[in-house]
Amino acid sequence: DVPPETLLRRPADIIGSADNAGHARIPLPRDLFQPERINSRGIEFGERAAVNRLVTDVATERVSAVPVNYSGPNDVNRAVTTARDGFSTWSRAPATERAAALERAADLLEQRSARFIAWLQREGGKTLDDCVSEVREAADFCRYYAAEGRKLFGDAQPLPGPTGERNTLRLRGRGVFAAISPWNFPLAIFMGQVTAALMAGNAVVAKPAEQTPRIAVEAVRLLHEAGIPVKALHLIQGDGHIGAALVAHRDIAGVVFTGSTEVARSINRVLAGKDGPIVPLIAETGGINAMIADATALPEQVADDVATSAFRSAGQRCSALRLLFVQEDVADRIIEMIVGAARELKIGDPSDPATHVGWVIDDDARKRLDAHIARMTREARVHFAGPAPSSGSFVAPHIFELDDARHLTEEVFGPILHIVRYSSSALDGVLEAIADSGYGLTLGIHSRIDDTVEAVVDRLQVGNVYVNRNMIGAVVGVQPFGGHGLSGTGPKAGGPHYLTRFATEQTVTVNT
Ligand code: NAD
Ligand code: ALA
Repeated sequence: DVPPETLLRRPADIIGSADNAGHARIPLPRDLFQPERINSRGIEFGERAAVNRLVTDVATERVSAVPVNYSGPNDVNRAVTTARDGFSTWSRAPATERAAALERAADLLEQRSARFIAWLQREGGKTLDDCVSEVREAADFCRYYAAEGRKLFGDAQPLPGPTGERNTLRLRGRGVFAAISPWNFPLAIFMGQVTAALMAGNAVVAKPAEQTPRIAVEAVRLLHEAGIPVKALHLIQGDGHIGAALVAHRDIAGVVFTGSTEVARSINRVLAGKDGPIVPLIAETGGINAMIADATALPEQVADDVATSAFRSAGQRCSALRLLFVQEDVADRIIEMIVGAARELKIGDPSDPATHVGWVIDDDARKRLDAHIARMTREARVHFAGPAPSSGSFVAPHIFELDDARHLTEEVFGPILHIVRYSSSALDGVLEAIADSGYGLTLGIHSRIDDTVEAVVDRLQVGNVYVNRNMIGAVVGVQPFGGHGLSGTGPKAGGPHYLTRFATEQTVTVNT
């Protein structure tokens, strides 16, 4: 663990020339930056020599080289083949044993939270607030799936039948699951996917996002230490090519994926084209998430909730608000207050506890967002263009007003809010525009009219609806999370039906 006093030392004292002194206020001990010899511990990690991959933009000067070995196709094959062996033992372990390993993992996460917070800051560029809630969420996933798993995967469920016949139903693991995760929740989503698949009795080959490889190493080590057999959980590293090779492997029995809609579609096509058994895909993807604020809403609360939903985590949450519909009678006042709230946000180094908006993940992301801002600046009305530090992968909060929601056709994954005014007679048009986007992840409603709220909730196929509050930060087991349509297949992560999709069902009828 990183002792508290270590957190106060200058990075240069700790990791020397590999780092740029002064840029991380939560530095890491030197050993975290040494090349790994992880194969000897049973993690399939790559045959090639360590690749010093710069996981973030060098121009930000915040980054040291993080040594990871990229995996090649042979590593994928080795990982899946060994995981098949691992499956035969792990799938037979009692549910109580599997659950206990997950609970130990939650305990270890909590004990080592400083270390994980440090990694989330360093590799994911997250603010302290976001790091703390992410470690919490990862531990919550472990405990929630352990508790659900004890119920679902314990004794076979007795079913009715005629005298002389005994019927039971039980859930079993499917085989080797591929778990492919994004960079924006490199610990919580990674752990959520992996622990769900393991709890259901599967073996797992996990491929984290190429931007955040080391957090995954830490997470896998912790799970092994918690009691997950090394053969049942493997880690491979690399970009989409390695992800694609994993999905295409003949022995993959299921895929759990979180990321962009485009990649989910491509995985779906690969699975559909495979010979052999039909392989299920659990995909959680993006959204053009909307909020509706009508004339009965409380303007101060709307402004606060909009700023949180659109700009926290630099807008790099799948749940984040992208499109605010505001009733025209109150639009000027509400927009003015949102701009006021945006002005108060401090943008800068995420390791500074006072920072609200940190970096976007890398320079490619910054360039994509800058291009969108340039287009909107030409085509829309600009209400706010925040100042960003001149160097580094920063994108300041921006607020644009569009005359038609249909000008926003794809997810913009950053701190950029789009606003559209609507007249009181045009709510139907608003709902149509939201539905026509094809996405259905999160939705916010600010209204004091119960009938309006009910009608909106009823009309829209959206996974998570938030009424008179912000629309991010779903809590495991409290707000099961996931969307419909272009936003994903379900079932919801952190919800009571999630584990069942990782399993097969078996009915046994015995003539007694
Ligand atoms: P991404 O789709 O680019 O990458 C996600 C993962 O897929 C990475 O590990 C990547 O290496 C891998 N990958 C890329 N191409 C692949 C291929 N052809 N085959 C197999 N794997 C491949 O997404 P990202 O940029 O890492 O994450 C941001 C996206 O994730 C946003 O769209 C966001 O909305 C979405 N997201 C959704 C949720 C949710 O719960 N619905 C949560 C977090 C993020
Ligand atoms: N589950 C995350 C949230 O709700 C994405 O913000």
